[in-house]
Amino acid sequence: MSRNDRQNIQTFVGVVALIGGLAALWLASVGANDEQIRFTMRESAFIAFALYVVVLVARPLQQLLRKDWTAKLLRNRRLLGVAFAAAMTAHLGLIAYRFGTQPELEFSPDPFGVGAYAVFYVMLITSFDAPKKALGPRAWKLLHRIGLLYAAVIFAVPRPLETVTEPEYLRYGIPFAIAVLIRFTAWRRSSRQDS
Ligand code: HEM
Repeated sequence: MSRNDRQNIQTFVGVVALIGGLAALWLASVGANDEQIRFTMRESAFIAFALYVVVLVARPLQQLLRKDWTAKLLRNRRLLGVAFAAAMTAHLGLIAYRFGTQPELEFSPDPFGVGAYAVFYVMLITSFDAPKKALGPRAWKLLHRIGLLYAAVIFAVPRPLETVTEPEYLRYGIPFAIAVLIRFTAWRRSSRQDS
């Protein structure tokens, strides 16, 4: 097994164990009622979002700043992506826990959410050397672009417009707007240099 693949597995298992462990500790201390299970689901989604934003800005930050830390961030972008998939897996584990422990709840998953998981796991699998090579660089880039865009839609548009100023939403909205601004600035600079 290559070093990359080993790092992917270690990161994935480590992040799932960390978030799962924290959620289990939390639920054991406050009581595993539905409100608290949903709280852990919201927080696991937020951790995934934080990782997602860092993945989104890694390359444009390096283009704009060219510092040691931005270069390091870019070098570690694959592992950050794997950590994102792991955090979403913890979210999925909590969904399973919620419906598994409360059979009275009706499980009617949104096809958009199910589709997102399918895309995220294809992205995860193609972060390993052999599937990545089999896919080829162009298809790989397209797939990962589509996946990042798909996640953006879910993270950026989860609520009706009248609630977007609530603090719970702003913690998604503000970092996302900053990430878009960073990407736009880097894109403008590179298109100016090209012309
Ligand atoms: C079948 C798939 C999914 C189900 C059943 C599901 C279910 C849930 C539930 C029950 C909550 C807690 C809601 C609350 O109590 O306020 C939640 C929160 C959240 N989920 Fe999922 N989820 C799914 C997939 C996803 C995916 C794919 C993403 C993102 C890519 C995502 C992002 C979020 C976010 C951002 C929150 C927090 C929303 C907030 O703070 O109001 N979920 N999810």
